[in-house]
Amino acid sequence: MCGIVGIIGTQPVAPLLVDALKRLEYRGYDSAGVATIEGNHLDRRRAEGKLVNLEARLKASPLSGTVGIGHTRWATHGAPTERNAHPHATETVAIVHNGIIENFFSLKTELQAAGYAFHTDTDTEVVAVLLTQALDKGLKPVEAFRAVLPRLEGAFALAVLFDGETDLLIAARHGPPLAIGHGDGEMYIGSDAIALSPFTDQVTFLEDGDWAVLTASSAAFFDKTGATVERRAQTSSAMHMTVDKGNHRHFMEKEIHEQPEVMSHTLAHFLDFSSGTARDNRAPIDFGAIDRLALSACGTAYYAGLIGKYWMERVARLPVDIDVASEFRYREMPLKKGGLALFISQSGETADTLASLRYCKENGQHIGAIVNVPESTIARESDAIFQTLAGPEIGVASTKAFTCQLSVLVSLAIAVGKARGAIDAAKEVELIRALTEAPRYANKALKLERQIEKIAGDLAKVRHILYLGRDTNYPLALEGALKLKEISYIHAEGYAAGELKHGPIALIDENMPVVVIAPHDRIFEKTVSNMQEVAARGGRIILITDEKGAAEASIEAEHVVVMPNMPEILTPIVYAIPVQLLAYHTALAMGTDVDQPRNLAKSVTVE
Ligand code: M6R
Repeated sequence: MCGIVGIIGTQPVAPLLVDALKRLEYRGYDSAGVATIEGNHLDRRRAEGKLVNLEARLKASPLSGTVGIGHTRWATHGAPTERNAHPHATETVAIVHNGIIENFFSLKTELQAAGYAFHTDTDTEVVAVLLTQALDKGLKPVEAFRAVLPRLEGAFALAVLFDGETDLLIAARHGPPLAIGHGDGEMYIGSDAIALSPFTDQVTFLEDGDWAVLTASSAAFFDKTGATVERRAQTSSAMHMTVDKGNHRHFMEKEIHEQPEVMSHTLAHFLDFSSGTARDNRAPIDFGAIDRLALSACGTAYYAGLIGKYWMERVARLPVDIDVASEFRYREMPLKKGGLALFISQSGETADTLASLRYCKENGQHIGAIVNVPESTIARESDAIFQTLAGPEIGVASTKAFTCQLSVLVSLAIAVGKARGAIDAAKEVELIRALTEAPRYANKALKLERQIEKIAGDLAKVRHILYLGRDTNYPLALEGALKLKEISYIHAEGYAAGELKHGPIALIDENMPVVVIAPHDRIFEKTVSNMQEVAARGGRIILITDEKGAAEASIEAEHVVVMPNMPEILTPIVYAIPVQLLAYHTALAMGTDVDQPRNLAKSVTVE
């Protein structure tokens, strides 16, 4: 899940490539590089670490070519060093790659036997060397590419530059997404439309298996058989998206604070607040005709799905099977034809989620997708899109996308419940009236930030933390633990509070903070009992509850975060905010890189 770009035109492209790469840094930031044609020859600059290092390298030693490619890396094969940074090049070819060439080892062995040398530990280099071999055999660049492409196995998006060819760029997609931008005397390649948004809003998304041959003024498209195909450009909405931090220190902070607004937009898209009815914007799926739902996603989106399962089963009386997509795609789940499968993804590009979607499609399911990026592959391969209106989410730790996913899921549960006759009009109005209040409660939750910041100061001193919750707040406990570990690097685990006594209680001592998410809901008393078990063993309780819960908890907690009382259906949505703030401020206190935590990338387009 690296980011790749390419530009071909008449002005120096290196600064433009770096600008585009900045918009792709969410895909990886282990190293970066650009290659252009200087005079008539390939030249490149690469640097370990983030783009600022590449920028410094280019400042010291600029490139002035008018055709070039660029890359920001999330390391798979080979350590994140300059040597392994893209573009990978021979004397005649430079290449950037997102994905994995699965048969690289056998190809490399074959090429080495033929006398070709390798200089990196990457899988990508084999593509550059294969192309070089084809050129050495006398093939012209386009024909060399045509000959090499069928030899590559795995998932890849590629952009290729050829020595001496100042008016040629080649791109290919086999799995990970790739967009071609059409400019005025300039053409572009990008891993997504946002990367290209400063240059053009006219974008062609390559279909799986497609490849494209670009000059400064033209684009020719070919499908996986090598036949010429028509691929229309569409107007991308990415151009209007702003991606700056405003007055905030981090994108994550900004995105946490945007939640009241974006959840309000999302809810209003699916629910008519004035009449208290769910909007009928689910075509072409007949919710009344389904009797089972298969749900799949990864990471935070999966936890949103787990909460959605509670709602679908409780509100809509619809049984739900849910699994993380990396398991779902291989577990050969039997599916009854005509069922509904729903996939949740902020990026819409997550490889495991996409593979699960394709499995369900092959098995005759209707496909629905809750996605934040409407032009994404998952969106484009679905029968129905339920878009989260979160806007671009840049922080690697997902925050506003999560609460928007929950907003969609709860709205769908109401719509499905209504279509299946599981709820009557009065219940529908009651639930929707409650949801109308979600943004207001979210604003109130944000006001607790200073108190949460103080608690975070204490958490930053420990190495392990437990999160507990019940019912819909159990998946939120899982999400809280994920959020904390991914940005603060503190080990955290989430458990269903009732499971504590089946094992994890052995971990409790006076050094173990336990964050308990416990609104005063139908099973509050049960959660209080679990807290008693923690308190009896000296555990340090951080209780996130409401006014009623704080009054009735009868427990010596180290900290109590008191949320406003609110309808039960809202709690996982609104309580996500203190949970996110706790992770954010703990990471700040630890001094980690909040927006770009180590080893992670925003969009996971490899298995
Ligand atoms: O783009 P997706 O929603 O499909 O991404 C899924 C996960 O990779 C993502 O939620 C990940 O777990 C986040 N880093 C969590 O904050």
